[in-house]
Amino acid sequence: MGQVTVLHVNGQERRVEGAPEMSLLTALRDHLELTGAKYGCGEGQCGACTVLLNGRAVRSCVTPLRATAGKTVRTIEGLERDGKLHPLQEAFLKTGAMQCGYCTSGMILSGVALLERNASPAASEIKRSLEGNLCRCGVYPRIVEAVRIAARTGGRR
Ligand code: FES
Ligand code: FES
Repeated sequence: MGQVTVLHVNGQERRVEGAPEMSLLTALRDHLELTGAKYGCGEGQCGACTVLLNGRAVRSCVTPLRATAGKTVRTIEGLERDGKLHPLQEAFLKTGAMQCGYCTSGMILSGVALLERNASPAASEIKRSLEGNLCRCGVYPRIVEAVRIAARTGGRR
Protein backbone atom coordinates (compact mmCIF):
# COMPACT_ATOMS: atom_id res chain seq x y z
CA MET A 1 0.00 0.00 0.00
CA GLY A 2 1.44 3.40 -1.03
CA GLN A 3 1.55 6.56 0.98
CA VAL A 4 -1.63 8.61 1.12
CA THR A 5 -1.47 12.32 0.29
CA VAL A 6 -4.41 14.53 1.14
CA LEU A 7 -5.07 17.15 -1.49
CA HIS A 8 -7.43 20.11 -1.48
CA VAL A 9 -8.73 20.19 -5.02
CA ASN A 10 -11.47 22.50 -6.25
CA GLY A 11 -12.76 23.02 -2.72
CA GLN A 12 -12.81 19.34 -1.79
CA GLU A 13 -10.51 17.16 0.24
CA ARG A 14 -9.25 14.31 -1.93
CA ARG A 15 -6.93 11.42 -1.06
CA VAL A 16 -4.34 10.00 -3.41
CA GLU A 17 -2.47 6.80 -2.73
CA GLY A 18 0.98 6.51 -4.27
CA ALA A 19 4.55 7.74 -4.15
CA PRO A 20 4.92 11.38 -3.03
CA GLU A 21 7.19 11.86 -6.07
CA MET A 22 4.23 11.15 -8.38
CA SER A 23 3.46 14.20 -10.47
CA LEU A 24 0.44 16.27 -9.61
CA LEU A 25 -0.70 15.78 -13.21
CA THR A 26 -0.73 11.99 -12.80
CA ALA A 27 -2.57 12.31 -9.49
CA LEU A 28 -5.22 14.53 -11.05
CA ARG A 29 -5.69 12.60 -14.27
CA ASP A 30 -5.14 8.97 -13.23
CA HIS A 31 -6.27 8.97 -9.61
CA LEU A 32 -8.89 11.71 -9.34
CA GLU A 33 -10.37 11.54 -12.86
CA LEU A 34 -9.77 15.24 -13.43
CA THR A 35 -8.59 15.08 -17.03
CA GLY A 36 -8.88 18.75 -17.98
CA ALA A 37 -5.15 19.31 -17.45
CA LYS A 38 -3.37 17.75 -20.40
CA TYR A 39 -0.08 15.90 -20.83
CA GLY A 40 1.94 17.64 -23.52
CA CYS A 41 5.72 17.60 -23.11
CA GLY A 42 6.00 16.21 -19.57
CA GLU A 43 8.98 18.53 -19.01
CA GLY A 44 7.47 21.81 -17.88
CA GLN A 45 7.87 23.39 -21.31
CA CYS A 46 4.43 23.57 -22.96
CA GLY A 47 1.92 24.61 -20.28
CA ALA A 48 -0.78 22.11 -21.31
CA CYS A 49 -0.82 20.73 -17.76
CA THR A 50 -1.13 24.10 -15.99
CA VAL A 51 -3.19 24.20 -12.79
CA LEU A 52 -3.33 26.68 -9.91
CA LEU A 53 -1.47 25.91 -6.70
CA ASN A 54 -2.40 28.44 -4.03
CA GLY A 55 -3.51 30.68 -6.90
CA ARG A 56 -0.22 30.45 -8.80
CA ALA A 57 -0.06 28.85 -12.22
CA VAL A 58 2.20 25.78 -12.04
CA ARG A 59 3.15 23.02 -14.44
CA SER A 60 1.57 20.01 -12.82
CA CYS A 61 3.72 17.55 -14.85
CA VAL A 62 6.83 18.66 -12.95
CA THR A 63 5.15 19.36 -9.60
CA PRO A 64 5.50 16.41 -7.22
CA LEU A 65 2.54 15.47 -5.10
CA ARG A 66 4.50 16.19 -1.92
CA ALA A 67 4.79 19.86 -2.95
CA THR A 68 1.01 20.24 -2.66
CA ALA A 69 0.83 19.58 1.09
CA GLY A 70 -1.36 22.16 2.79
CA LYS A 71 -1.99 24.01 -0.47
CA THR A 72 -5.08 24.40 -2.59
CA VAL A 73 -5.25 23.09 -6.14
CA ARG A 74 -7.64 24.48 -8.74
CA THR A 75 -8.19 22.84 -12.09
CA ILE A 76 -10.32 23.75 -15.06
CA GLU A 77 -13.08 21.55 -13.61
CA GLY A 78 -13.26 23.84 -10.58
CA LEU A 79 -13.74 27.17 -12.36
CA GLU A 80 -17.46 26.91 -12.98
CA ARG A 81 -19.56 28.24 -10.15
CA ASP A 82 -23.28 27.64 -9.51
CA GLY A 83 -23.64 26.29 -13.02
CA LYS A 84 -21.94 29.32 -14.56
CA LEU A 85 -18.67 29.26 -16.43
CA HIS A 86 -15.85 31.54 -15.30
CA PRO A 87 -15.87 34.86 -17.22
CA LEU A 88 -12.63 33.83 -18.93
CA GLN A 89 -14.19 30.56 -20.08
CA GLU A 90 -17.10 32.60 -21.47
CA ALA A 91 -14.67 34.93 -23.21
CA PHE A 92 -12.84 31.98 -24.81
CA LEU A 93 -16.14 30.79 -26.23
CA LYS A 94 -17.06 34.28 -27.38
CA THR A 95 -13.79 34.84 -29.25
CA GLY A 96 -13.42 31.25 -30.45
CA ALA A 97 -10.02 31.16 -28.76
CA MET A 98 -9.51 27.47 -29.39
CA GLN A 99 -9.03 25.17 -32.30
CA CYS A 100 -8.04 21.65 -31.23
CA GLY A 101 -8.44 22.70 -27.59
CA TYR A 102 -5.38 20.89 -26.29
CA CYS A 103 -3.79 24.02 -24.83
CA THR A 104 -7.08 25.59 -23.70
CA SER A 105 -7.28 24.42 -20.11
CA GLY A 106 -3.70 25.53 -19.40
CA MET A 107 -4.19 28.84 -21.17
CA ILE A 108 -7.34 29.57 -19.19
CA LEU A 109 -5.71 28.75 -15.86
CA SER A 110 -2.68 30.93 -16.64
CA GLY A 111 -5.14 33.69 -17.58
CA VAL A 112 -7.13 33.24 -14.38
CA ALA A 113 -3.92 33.48 -12.30
CA LEU A 114 -3.08 36.72 -14.07
CA LEU A 115 -6.56 38.24 -13.62
CA GLU A 116 -6.52 37.38 -9.93
CA ARG A 117 -3.21 39.28 -9.56
CA ASN A 118 -4.20 42.15 -11.81
CA ALA A 119 -7.81 42.82 -12.76
CA SER A 120 -6.91 44.98 -15.75
CA PRO A 121 -3.64 43.83 -17.27
CA ALA A 122 -2.04 45.55 -20.25
CA ALA A 123 -1.77 43.54 -23.46
CA SER A 124 1.98 43.21 -22.90
CA GLU A 125 1.40 41.70 -19.48
CA ILE A 126 -1.17 39.26 -20.86
CA LYS A 127 1.32 38.11 -23.49
CA ARG A 128 4.08 37.77 -20.93
CA SER A 129 1.86 35.73 -18.60
CA LEU A 130 0.94 33.33 -21.38
CA GLU A 131 4.46 33.01 -22.76
CA GLY A 132 4.98 29.58 -21.24
CA ASN A 133 1.78 28.19 -22.71
CA LEU A 134 2.21 26.91 -26.24
CA CYS A 135 -0.60 26.75 -28.77
CA ARG A 136 0.26 24.61 -31.77
CA CYS A 137 -2.83 25.87 -33.58
CA GLY A 138 -1.61 29.47 -33.30
CA VAL A 139 -4.76 31.13 -31.99
CA TYR A 140 -2.74 33.44 -29.71
CA PRO A 141 -4.42 36.69 -30.84
CA ARG A 142 -7.85 35.33 -29.93
CA ILE A 143 -6.55 34.01 -26.61
CA VAL A 144 -5.12 37.43 -25.70
CA GLU A 145 -8.39 39.04 -26.79
CA ALA A 146 -10.33 36.63 -24.56
CA VAL A 147 -8.26 37.65 -21.53
CA ARG A 148 -8.87 41.33 -22.37
CA ILE A 149 -12.62 40.74 -22.63
CA ALA A 150 -12.68 38.82 -19.36
CA ALA A 151 -10.80 41.66 -17.65
CA ARG A 152 -13.41 44.15 -18.93
CA THR A 153 -16.29 41.96 -17.77
CA GLY A 154 -14.96 41.33 -14.29
CA GLY A 155 -12.78 38.30 -14.96
CA ARG A 156 -11.57 38.30 -11.41
CA ARG A 157 -14.83 37.01 -9.93
S1 FES B 1 2.95 18.72 -20.05
FE1 FES B 1 3.51 19.96 -18.41
S2 FES B 1 4.49 21.67 -19.29
FE2 FES B 1 4.11 20.32 -20.96
S1 FES C 1 -6.00 25.35 -29.81
FE1 FES C 1 -4.79 23.67 -30.51
S2 FES C 1 -2.98 23.84 -29.36
FE2 FES C 1 -4.06 25.63 -28.89
